[in-house]
Amino acid sequence: MEFVRLLLVFLHLLGMGMLIAMFFVQRRAGADAPLNKGWLHGSALQLLTGVALVGLAPLTDQDYDHVKIGIKGVVVVLIAALVAVNVTKPRPATWLTPTLAGLVVLNVGIAVFWT
Ligand code: HEM
Repeated sequence: MEFVRLLLVFLHLLGMGMLIAMFFVQRRAGADAPLNKGWLHGSALQLLTGVALVGLAPLTDQDYDHVKIGIKGVVVVLIAALVAVNVTKPRPATWLTPTLAGLVVLNVGIAVFWT
């Protein structure tokens, strides 16, 4: 079971890397480019792997802080909602990319500093 947890953490960290990469992909595409769907895939991966980690906690002998997990969940749903609403627009608002990146960094901070 420990291998399954490590595999989920591995995918969770790759998802984080993907979301950070999306910031640079989006910036490089320019202000006139539509929102990249990678934001949606990255946030879905974070939600799926996070929920799986929490769901398997009794089997993997983990005791996660539920307030911390709840806040991370709200942040990631906010990211996914902002992306879902804006992904079909031809030109996203200028505040959107830095806001999405800020929310990703917020979740990394919560993950690391909330002990
Ligand atoms: C943008 C979204 C997210 C980012 C960037 C993120 C980032 C991280 C990072 C960097 C870690 C490793 C922390 C460490 O080992 O010290 C981590 C661990 C974890 N995350 Fe997330 N996370 C996100 C969303 C979520 C969500 C939505 C959930 C749950 C619903 C979740 C549940 C967890 C759990 C349970 C761990 C601990 C895994 C373990 O070490 O066993 N995360 N996250």
